[in-house]
Amino acid sequence: MMSYPYQINSLEAYHKAWNKSVDDPEGFWGEVASHFHWKKPWEKVLEWNFREPSVKWFQGAELNITENCLDRHLADKASQPAIIWEPNNPEEHHRLITYAQLYAKVVQFSHVLKNNGVKKGDRVCLYMGMIPELAIAVLACARVGAIHSVIFGGFSAQSIADRLQDAQAGFIITCDGAFRGAKDIPLKSVIDDALVSCPFVQRVIVYTHTRTAVSMIKGRDVWWEDEVRKVETAGNPDFPAETMDAEDPLFILYTSGSTGKPKGVVHTCGGYMVYTNYTFVNVFQYQPREIHFCTADIGWITGHSYIVYGPLSAGATTLLFEGIPTYPDAGRFWDIIDKFKVNILYTAPTAIRSLMAFGLGPVQNKDLSSLRVLGTVGEPINEEAWNWYNENIGKGNCPIVDTWWQTETGGVLISNLAGITPSKASYATLPMPGVQPLLLDEKGNEITANNVTGNLCIRAPWPSTLRTTYGDHDRCRTNYFATYPDLYFTGDGAYRDENGFYRITGRVDDVLNVSGHRIGTAEVENAINMHAGVVESAVVGYPHDVKGQGIYAFVIYSGTHGDESMVRKDITATVSRIIGPIAKPDKIQLVSGLPKTRSGKIMRRILRKVAEGELENIGDTSTLLDPGVVQEIIKGKI
Ligand code: WT7
Repeated sequence: MMSYPYQINSLEAYHKAWNKSVDDPEGFWGEVASHFHWKKPWEKVLEWNFREPSVKWFQGAELNITENCLDRHLADKASQPAIIWEPNNPEEHHRLITYAQLYAKVVQFSHVLKNNGVKKGDRVCLYMGMIPELAIAVLACARVGAIHSVIFGGFSAQSIADRLQDAQAGFIITCDGAFRGAKDIPLKSVIDDALVSCPFVQRVIVYTHTRTAVSMIKGRDVWWEDEVRKVETAGNPDFPAETMDAEDPLFILYTSGSTGKPKGVVHTCGGYMVYTNYTFVNVFQYQPREIHFCTADIGWITGHSYIVYGPLSAGATTLLFEGIPTYPDAGRFWDIIDKFKVNILYTAPTAIRSLMAFGLGPVQNKDLSSLRVLGTVGEPINEEAWNWYNENIGKGNCPIVDTWWQTETGGVLISNLAGITPSKASYATLPMPGVQPLLLDEKGNEITANNVTGNLCIRAPWPSTLRTTYGDHDRCRTNYFATYPDLYFTGDGAYRDENGFYRITGRVDDVLNVSGHRIGTAEVENAINMHAGVVESAVVGYPHDVKGQGIYAFVIYSGTHGDESMVRKDITATVSRIIGPIAKPDKIQLVSGLPKTRSGKIMRRILRKVAEGELENIGDTSTLLDPGVVQEIIKGKI
């Protein structure tokens, strides 16, 4: 049975689809898009140039993505669970929300947004835990045509304020608090701190979840529950979905780059919908009624695309888990899979590695036989973790999809298709239809041979290409489209084997990947430099057994703010305050100088070698202003 007309069901069909997508992208994506609900058809499937850049898919078309995620499923899936929610505390009850219920809740909350002054095009910031109300708020924004910007709960007040200011967001939706393992994060209180510097925020809607005490500011803050009650009193009227142009923005998601300031990646309604749905259905080979469990947080792109929009637009059942893999014990994922008979598990290598460390005890006596497909995302997966996942979780008979993509790409660009195209440990393998990867050498020449490494670029747009960086289009151009003319540059390096399979080797810019979280070294340096005792700092990554990469900071300390162990703690607290706990350095080495060239540039290559422990192999230091500083740094290595 073919459940989705555009679901690829053989290796041959994959090659056919890929070839067609390259020879005739408009024909190919026009056909896929014809299976969605549009209020008005498009005039042109694709128009683009990467010089500006300008990428327009389905121009002239009108739609609302929530009609595709909700309304169109009411006919045949009204009583099927859309969302299964598993709370942080396993003793508490889970929730099942059917498509009919989710529709009703989104409609209701759309009214709440409208009643509170939210209009089409307004930016609404969401800072909530992993609860169904976050998905409801996301969808309600989309229904009223507001641009949502979800901020991960691990970011600090300062980071939130930066993002609110950049997006000029007038509205915030938050919770009193969020549970994460044994922790209780006071979200509303963090928001209050952020808002000290954001007077333009006119309304904060607060959902009660943890029953943490909060201060509600008169005239600015309202309770979610009160606002919903008003809609109920009004008889729960329908809320016709706002008409959106295919190229109207759907959301902004901030992500780190090689500069100090995070970028607001903008995705638009039509192309993003088509591509996240297409990749969801094809990569995981989703079958009707299956339960899809993506363990990411909705605060990251993975949650946007493969917890919310991809699965819901495909009428799938998506499982939302509030907690963390190790609470109350390291068997949590396996309990959830057993409890709900999960069919697809999509998680990050860092989670797999952290669970491996607990041995097989937590996996034993858990029925994982419902699993059909396993997925990984966010960072390169080492062979050891891949094998462990394959043997102990998949029991050797679940294909593993290694999905490579980015916040900017909106959906998966390189991955095997579960059970359809071949897999290879630590390889993302082949491009999705519509995706044309290529490798370039340092000089910008394309490398056409196989068994080579190069900088990974993409030749032409796919439907969920980022359209701009919010408020600064030139930044989008210089960051992604200017390094190599007429190509999208990913910032990743990749190896291509004799079969043309791609293995992502990691970032080639100054961006770290810590536990699958993207962190710019410049951002961490800026935060460290805020500390009064810090003269200068340089941050690099180093291999970390569980996190993938750890953060190693070399800091020149003035000596005026207490002893060394104290200052290390203070620097850590500073980073936590400025960015958030996710960016805390794992190691801080106090140094008297940094290796600099005569022109004053820090030679990070040397610092990276030290952080990696490659002390014998430091490389050429003759161009340094003061080669002596290297010896001191080597001696002081942590
Ligand atoms: C960076 C993007 C895409 C959702 C999560 C991260 C790295 C992502 C893989 C993979 C090797 C990967 C890349 C990429 N990455 N997936 N399967 N294998 N590396 O999104 O925060 O935008 O980070 O994550 O380095 O550039 P993101």
